[in-house]
Amino acid sequence: MADQHVQSGEDKRSTAIPVIRWEEPPEGPVLVLLDQTRLPAEEVELVCTDAPVLVEAIRSLAVRGAPLLGIAGAYGVALAAARGFDVDDAADALAGARPTAVNLAVGVRRAQDTYRAELAGSGDEGKAARAALAAARQLHREDAEASARMAERGLALLDELLPGGGHRILTHCNTGSLVSGGEGTAFAVALAAHRAGKLRRLWVDETRPLLQGARLTAYEAARSGMAYTLLTDNAAGSLFAAGEVDAVLIGADRIAADGSVANKVGSYPLAVLARYHHVPFVVVAPVTTVDPDTPDGAAIEVEQRAGFEVTEVSAPQVPVAGPGGGIPVAPLGTQAYNPAFDVTPPELVTAIVTEEGVVSPVTAEALAQVCARSREV
Ligand code: MRU
Repeated sequence: MADQHVQSGEDKRSTAIPVIRWEEPPEGPVLVLLDQTRLPAEEVELVCTDAPVLVEAIRSLAVRGAPLLGIAGAYGVALAAARGFDVDDAADALAGARPTAVNLAVGVRRAQDTYRAELAGSGDEGKAARAALAAARQLHREDAEASARMAERGLALLDELLPGGGHRILTHCNTGSLVSGGEGTAFAVALAAHRAGKLRRLWVDETRPLLQGARLTAYEAARSGMAYTLLTDNAAGSLFAAGEVDAVLIGADRIAADGSVANKVGSYPLAVLARYHHVPFVVVAPVTTVDPDTPDGAAIEVEQRAGFEVTEVSAPQVPVAGPGGGIPVAPLGTQAYNPAFDVTPPELVTAIVTEEGVVSPVTAEALAQVCARSREV
């Protein structure tokens, strides 16, 4: 994996952030990713030459966020095929790189199925590799389209829930163009509200322990020119109590068939706060995030990550470092509880906004009906 420095991060007003692209230099095809672990300090690209490099990029969160994981996974299969590696091995490694975001396995299997079908039909590996790439590109385009439609539907829902505009929206983790082929999920709705002159402020949870809110959402918000304020996750309660939050908008990593929502850890406490304070709690996610094979919240596998993400703060330039390479902030040997996600039950979710429609109230039947629209045509 080679580092390529792109440009130092300065305040830019454009919102499009190139996060993933396929290239075919003379040495062979590569998948180029914006390394999200280095943001916002620097915009550095990672060049993946095969699936194991991409698996590591997924595990380290260089590439992350549910929809983008699906796109990256599909390109990963195409990369293995184009470079002549074992496609099934690569697909299994990619699909298993992180367990919670269902989009990853969905994207991987879509490209793998396309590859297999072409190979079975034509017996031509080159053709099958090109078919896998076309499937990845198609998924990439579809995600961009889904993102635009979710933004439109989400804005219409905000108009209904909060007539009058002047929205003060609280969000958690990172859900903008860094996680999508388009402008994202929840962040895309906030952006649409901003463009319509209806967003008064985006409250950005810092999102411990890896700071996706502080590092990535604040970066996206600054680029868009919207008014935003960063807060520690623990400050959300007093913000609600002060009447400063009109709605919560978050994304999702997996939505079970009953409407339970797995998203970045810290989402569930926000849903509880929102219910107590009579504030709408809205989830924005493409139908690819809904998993009909996961019956309920208890069946969602929540990724557990290394304890050092909690017991250290990461500062690779510091010479004296803990086992994770960061500055220890807890006594050496301290055990940490570090689930990457939590699960919000459907009864705490006001609405799920998908590109196919809005599910509200959230019931298994209504969710299945909306998702079925994506299979019509
Ligand atoms: O661990 P991450 O950074 O991959 O977690 C990402 C999130 O939890 C996002 O909120 C989720 O993927 C929705 S993004 C549209």
